[in-house]
Amino acid sequence: GVPMFQRVTPSELKRMTGRKGKPAWSSWQGKVYNITPYLPFHPGGEAELMKAAGRDGAKLFMDVHPWVNWENMLSSCMVGVLVPEDYGVK
Ligand code: HEM
Repeated sequence: GVPMFQRVTPSELKRMTGRKGKPAWSSWQGKVYNITPYLPFHPGGEAELMKAAGRDGAKLFMDVHPWVNWENMLSSCMVGVLVPEDYGVK
């Protein structure tokens, strides 16, 4: 069927640091990815990749390897889409 993705606010993303039993999430162009499964495979090492945990990874990523295709490589790790902090609040 059609995959469903959860809506993730910036403060929710901030909590997904990879610590306290939670996976590490990072965002790229409005999409949120679970980067935990990719950690052992990252050519730049786990510590480098973990710098992007709990936040938007675009700046770090583009500073190091703008030629790498995040969207393609981590497509199966996409977990949600970023929404504004007050999303759904009436
Ligand atoms: C290397 C993927 C995030 C730091 C690489 C390479 C790939 C890759 C494919 C090898 C590139 C090449 O040799 O041309 C990814 C993916 C990311 C990601 C899919 C998405 C989450 C990051 C972040 C950082 C980082 C956030 C820094 C904070 C590095 C470094 C290398 C590297 C320093 C160079 C390793 C070396 O050649 O010694 N990454 N990366 N990466 N990455 Fe990442």
